[in-house]
Amino acid sequence: MIELEVRGDERGSLIALEAATGVPFAIERVYYIFGTREGVVRGLHAHHALTQWAVCVAGACTVLLDDGRERTDVRLDRPDLALQIGPMVWHEMRDFEPGTVLMVLADGPYDEADYIRDQAEFERLVSETR
Ligand code: TYD
Repeated sequence: MIELEVRGDERGSLIALEAATGVPFAIERVYYIFGTREGVVRGLHAHHALTQWAVCVAGACTVLLDDGRERTDVRLDRPDLALQIGPMVWHEMRDFEPGTVLMVLADGPYDEADYIRDQAEFERLVSETR
């Protein structure tokens, strides 16, 4: 989890994400998830190589992270928190509040070949690296 610097004044708040403010990779893609229906679980995959930052810019959701050793739930409920999700981390997003916008910065393009969508395959691959 990374705490982001908020530039605030009497008008409100602003956060800039760039190398100078601590993003540790060249941002190649930004996507955002919104309009998520109640009860939906998204994600349900890991990546071979991709690194991402997830920022809940509005609302809240819970992210389950599983690196093959530990499973951790993280609640993203502040626009000034970024969650770094590195390679070989199984992740699931759930419990979206209505109106939630989850913005994700990625260090690579959308590439289906980088996805591991089968949890048994993920567990097999991650156990080989132990
Ligand atoms: P999906 O991987 O199912 O989303 P999530 O992991 O959040 O559950 O992606 C939904 C659709 O959007 C799917 O058709 C792939 C497409 N997509 C892109 O075209 N570009 C992207 O950067 C992403 C993340 C998904």
